[in-house]
Amino acid sequence: MKGIILAGGAGSRMYPISQLYSKQLTLIYDKPLIYYPLSILMLGGIQDILIISNEETIPFYKKLFRDGKHLGLNIEYTLQSAPNGIAESFILGDKFIGNDSVTLILGDNIFYGTLDFFQRALERKKGATVFGYRVTDPERYGIVEFDENGKAISIEEKPQKPKSDFAVPGLYVYDNNVVEISKNLKPSPRGELEITDVNMEYLKRGELNVEKISRGVAWLDTGTPESLLQASNFFGAIEDRQGLKVACLEEIALHMEFINLTEFETVTNNMPKCAYKEYLNKILQDRIK
Ligand code: G1P
Repeated sequence: MKGIILAGGAGSRMYPISQLYSKQLTLIYDKPLIYYPLSILMLGGIQDILIISNEETIPFYKKLFRDGKHLGLNIEYTLQSAPNGIAESFILGDKFIGNDSVTLILGDNIFYGTLDFFQRALERKKGATVFGYRVTDPERYGIVEFDENGKAISIEEKPQKPKSDFAVPGLYVYDNNVVEISKNLKPSPRGELEITDVNMEYLKRGELNVEKISRGVAWLDTGTPESLLQASNFFGAIEDRQGLKVACLEEIALHMEFINLTEFETVTNNMPKCAYKEYLNKILQDRIK
């Protein structure tokens, strides 16, 4: 399974910082936003990761993650030269995906809670899996409609009259057919290759699984300065209460056995003196005991 993070976009709602870089680099409490979606791929056991972004932002990601080896990952980078839509990821990532299946996560999507819904999707060999999450503002998202048996019967992108309150979050698990499907898409009226059109094609083929995410899981919005602040407060409260960090990539790499304790120690030693390093040092001491 390959993983793609699409983390570009004009981000004009984040002006003035959007003049410098895309919002996935802004801090959510104590770490950049992109750490959160990357942590989800890692927790799914995915180690081959492609980050797709714009010209201004790719150098920052490279500085943050390099080739990913220190996290036991193989990270590559690809340029999306214009905002041509989410589904373009599979065309730009064609070579990287090869004959494999692929999970796409949008760089501004944050999930928190038990990831059993994602694990089940990763175990499926054929077709596509997308998720349904209840929201109060369905007109802002891709929306999935279910019949009385809970089977998905339609998906619409940002409908003016939503047929349900179930939004499709930016986490999608596809078999290899997604590459061919994306290459055959026509741009939508807004000029983008829509991820919803990819999902509709799987639905037409009878190969789309839609799993509802239970209410115990948080899927947070990060589209506006207000929602970024809410997300920061949310994770600040959790981390402060438990003394455990969310989306701490080094900790996850060790937990998933992508790196061993010696490699973990080297990574930690290379950090400047800070609370993040102290946290990792404590994990190291606990393991050595
Ligand atoms: C995109 C997708 C939409 C999905 C959303 C999730 O919308 O087009 O189907 O529900 O991501 O974050 P965007 O937020 O890019 O407008």
